[in-house]
Amino acid sequence: LKTNDFILLNQNYLKDEYTNITDKVSGYIGRNIYLQSSNPLNLVRQRIVNYFYKKYVNRRGNPIFSIHDNLPPIVNVTQNFDSLLIPKDHPSRNKSDCYYINKKFLLRAHMTAHQSELIQSGLNNFLIIGDVYRRDEIDRTHYPVFHQVDAVRLRSKTQIFSDDNLHIFEEGTNTAFTGNQEKQACHTLEAVKVVEFELKDTLVGLAKALFKENTKYRWVDTTFPFTQPSWELEVFHNEQWIEVLGCGIMQQAILNNAGVHDKIGWAFGLGLERIAMCLYQIPDIRLFWSCDSGFLNQFKNKNVNDDIVYTPISQYPQCKNDLSFWLPPGEFSANDFYDLARTIGGDLIEQIELIDEFKHPKTGKVSHCYRITYRHMEKTLTQEEVGVIHKSIADGVKELGATIR
Ligand code: PHE
Repeated sequence: LKTNDFILLNQNYLKDEYTNITDKVSGYIGRNIYLQSSNPLNLVRQRIVNYFYKKYVNRRGNPIFSIHDNLPPIVNVTQNFDSLLIPKDHPSRNKSDCYYINKKFLLRAHMTAHQSELIQSGLNNFLIIGDVYRRDEIDRTHYPVFHQVDAVRLRSKTQIFSDDNLHIFEEGTNTAFTGNQEKQACHTLEAVKVVEFELKDTLVGLAKALFKENTKYRWVDTTFPFTQPSWELEVFHNEQWIEVLGCGIMQQAILNNAGVHDKIGWAFGLGLERIAMCLYQIPDIRLFWSCDSGFLNQFKNKNVNDDIVYTPISQYPQCKNDLSFWLPPGEFSANDFYDLARTIGGDLIEQIELIDEFKHPKTGKVSHCYRITYRHMEKTLTQEEVGVIHKSIADGVKELGATIR
């Protein structure tokens, strides 16, 4: 084993200038908390699966959606981006946003990464469920690992129209982006409307099954590189609109590239944490990773449809410490600091805010000041304990070449 090699999921990888995955983050691979019986993410996952099993059955009454919830999270750049028509210069590909293993491989940033390969294998109706990884800010709703459910449903002409004179495609196979929210150039408006209706009906039904029957909701136009038209579904919860999912009519080029030339499809993707936090009133995303029985027992042996309200074990006090430093030479993004702090401070860190940014008028050097909020989920932290961690973080940035102010 050379020093430039490392092993992940029994596979050898070569480090390069893209490598930015941390040991802390690779430690989450394989924990599969969304499959553990007492984890609230598992309850939400099961409710979504049950909804699809019940809504879509064949003539014999058997579910037609297949479930893929054990695909390994290491994917290549083709799966995560290229197969979904994500442009080469799209910001979601940036090193500052993803955990790259090297130039070619990364931890999937969305479950949509598996869409194309599953279509290629001949599936028409499927759910893809698993852990996804993104470099992001640190607060009560963001964590470097979270969980998504994606779905795809493909429909042929005879499945959506009984009249032989109606068609899915017009003008041959023109799959050019039209820049038009209404539809892709290759689709007939009537096919798009039928599929759009089924997609929206399915997702409103899902939102009602998860939240309440009379939940207020709204559709917001949006864009994704892999769907057109595209929408977000928002539900009104606790006096505010929250975004629960993204969806749309699949780009026909994705189907064509996967060898499917006679069908039109819809797809959506949703995040499990946000929904579970709303449903069970879970105040902090770190709790999903807690092994503490005070947390897990509240979700143990429950019926998936039970109304559960999480009662905080107790709120331990926060401890805030600031850290200012001149940025190290070369590339440095706030996400680099967040990863470093997370690697050292782990789940004791509740939030990190960039509270001040200063550029020296003469030297042009830039300094950042971060406010780190420490709070243990299960006990009170002393300033002494916090001081030790805070100092290690300061030492860590020094090693990157930063100067503490
Ligand atoms: N992959 C998108 C996301 O992570 C969600 C999505 C999936 C949107 C499929 C449209 C279709 O936000």
